[in-house]
Amino acid sequence: MICEAPPPRVTQALRQLRDLGLEPVTAQHLLLKAMGQNLAARSWLISHDTQALTPTEWLAAQALAARVAAGEPLAYVLGEAGFWGLTLRVSPAVLIPRPDTETLAHWALALTAADAKVTLADLGTGSGALALTLAQQRPHATVWAVERSPQAMAVAQFNAQALGLSLRWRLGDWWAALPRGLQFDLVVSNPPYIACNDMHLVDLGAEPQTALVAGPDGLRDLSRIIDGASRRLRRGGWLLLEHGHHQAQAVAQLLRRHGLARVSTRADLAGRPRCTGGQRR
Ligand SMILES: C[S@@+](CC[C@H](N)C(=O)[O-])C[C@H]1O[C@@H](n2cnc3c(N)ncnc32)[C@H](O)[C@@H]1O
Repeated sequence: MICEAPPPRVTQALRQLRDLGLEPVTAQHLLLKAMGQNLAARSWLISHDTQALTPTEWLAAQALAARVAAGEPLAYVLGEAGFWGLTLRVSPAVLIPRPDTETLAHWALALTAADAKVTLADLGTGSGALALTLAQQRPHATVWAVERSPQAMAVAQFNAQALGLSLRWRLGDWWAALPRGLQFDLVVSNPPYIACNDMHLVDLGAEPQTALVAGPDGLRDLSRIIDGASRRLRRGGWLLLEHGHHQAQAVAQLLRRHGLARVSTRADLAGRPRCTGGQRR
């Protein structure tokens, strides 16, 4: 006769997940997900520490743990990631939004008054992280979001609906996706910027390569975006770009060569130069 162990209680389940090699916080998030709880409320586990899992919940927790152990990014396993205080759905169709990109959001918000009726754009919106942050923080602005991947656009639109935010969506290629003649007060973009032979790509294999790779030097998409900027920015309008930490000088040069002024670079949380922007005269 086979005698199966009953599903564990919350405390035991956490211990068993940690014994599989998971970090404590990862184990907590996986258990909350398996039990259908809000991932932001880890205190729920403390107040329900003696609750027994159902067999279905325990099987689900073990399946999620196996995906993490196999190397799948936690955000994809959980199906969500945080950005600027927003909880965003993510899937393998979109880049997982990074805390580093909050530098770009911070800079864009600093250049846009809280009640400004401005026209903003996010080129290559992915999960919608930047566009949704701008739309939420600047409710009087009109925010355009451009994306080339229909699957990524669907994720961003799901996030907008879940957050009750209204944006203008355009599926297509950088500036060409936007209505002809429309000009912007501020445009942000975190485009692909990794060189196709960069060894770091090995660690990013779970994320869409079309979100990451930009030709032999990583500058292909940054150049194309900068190239179109002076026609698409209003006088005094800003273009702010995220890039690799070794690309700041090249991006600054491109911005100046295309006539943008007040070119400067901002550092990410680790102090590396990761965003460069300029203003149309
Ligand atoms: C690095 S990801 C950034 C995603 C998101 N903005 C973020 O910061 O998390 C770049 C995004 O640009 C999109 N993309 C790549 N080439 C594009 C193009 N030619 N036109 C529009 N979007 C493009 C990719 O599909 C991807 O979603």
